[in-house]
Amino acid sequence: MRMYDLIMKKRNGEELTTEEINYFIQEYTKGEIPDYQVSALMMAIYFQKMNKRETADLTKAMVDSGEIIDLSAIEGVKVDKHSTGGVGDTTTLILGPIVAAAGAPVAKMSGRGLGHTGGTIDKLESFEGFSVDMSVERFIQNVNEKKIAIGGQTANLAPADKKLYALRDVTATVDNMSLIASSIMSKKIASGADAIVLDVKTGSGAFMKNEDDAFALAKEMVDIGTHIGRNTIAVITDMDQPLGFAVGNALEVKEAIDTLKGKGPKDLTELCLTLGAHMLVLGEKANTVEEARRVLEEIIASGKGINKLKELVKAQGGNEEFVENPSLFPTASIVEPVLANEEGYVKGIKADDIGRAALVLGAGRETKESEIDLSVGIVLHKKIGDFVKKGEKVATIHANSVEKQKIATDMILDAYTIVKEKIEAKTLIKGIVTKDGINRF
Ligand code: URA
Ligand code: CA
Repeated sequence: MRMYDLIMKKRNGEELTTEEINYFIQEYTKGEIPDYQVSALMMAIYFQKMNKRETADLTKAMVDSGEIIDLSAIEGVKVDKHSTGGVGDTTTLILGPIVAAAGAPVAKMSGRGLGHTGGTIDKLESFEGFSVDMSVERFIQNVNEKKIAIGGQTANLAPADKKLYALRDVTATVDNMSLIASSIMSKKIASGADAIVLDVKTGSGAFMKNEDDAFALAKEMVDIGTHIGRNTIAVITDMDQPLGFAVGNALEVKEAIDTLKGKGPKDLTELCLTLGAHMLVLGEKANTVEEARRVLEEIIASGKGINKLKELVKAQGGNEEFVENPSLFPTASIVEPVLANEEGYVKGIKADDIGRAALVLGAGRETKESEIDLSVGIVLHKKIGDFVKKGEKVATIHANSVEKQKIATDMILDAYTIVKEKIEAKTLIKGIVTKDGINRF
């Protein structure tokens, strides 16, 4: 087989066979095919697209390019959740405990990664002593005994995707549905999920700015899951403004604690109940989403959810007293309000810009080597549809440098669009995609 022929075939709009897809993924992973040829193939795929079969084959080939985590020693259906990314998304910290408390195993491998704030692991490290360092045996034992464990991504998962994603990033070939969908799904499947709930975000703070694109991406991923024998559903949700109020590490953990105690922001609570209900159905712990939702509401109301978080923190060496006494979390030295300079209704909050302001404050990593400041971040007080008076607080900044606090203040004010006419609040859940079709609300 010659790479040249594959490029020509795809350039001419023909379909690649399973063998051809396996060939280029295997050889590229080994370093036997140069980047320039793979770049040309990616560009050909970008223009000529891939069909469902090719997309599923590409996903499988990327899964097989590295290690596949074996979670078969864990009892029950392992359901994983994946979000396509947004700002202030604290759902994992809430979903993990409530789903585990309902009896479904939560075997979560999380990353640190680059971003506006740290990843789930960074956030959990706000608990003094918390660690993800444990053997695979211990990880599995914790899930079997406590129904939940959070591990670091140590395995060599889907290395073909790592190389391809980096190459696509610099060759303007990221935004092709088949390439994005296979990239995301390959990582989920390699990390051992039996079933997958996807939270596909749409809006200013999301990868998919446009709602139709978000539905199309969701459909593509659900089709891959179905093709590969992993029950997959996708919920399409709004990311036109940050989720909840807090954006930062310790600040988001505190928000997660409030939510687990039944006192969290409405949108964050709603999203967790929706995603969690689908996880329980796929995990065969409930027959319908309505029944599952009632179970989760009861778990929050009875305190079983917050107790599960304590159990998780303690099991991984963290100080669980922080849960009852959030003042123990790292705090910033400067806590200053951002005041509105006009009156009206909030029409938009550019989630991306709020994220960048959090990054300026030090909440996230700009490069792999950056150190995260767990204490800093932003707490919003006004969301889309709210009325603001001139001089009223729209947000509070938690900073450790006056200079950064000033920069963030300007960025936050710029991120808000305030208008005179009344604005409706946003609908959070836009629809659901299952193997049976698309249901737009
Ligand atoms: N996220 C991924 O993991 N892969 C893509 O291709 C795009 C977003
Ligand atoms: Ca939040």
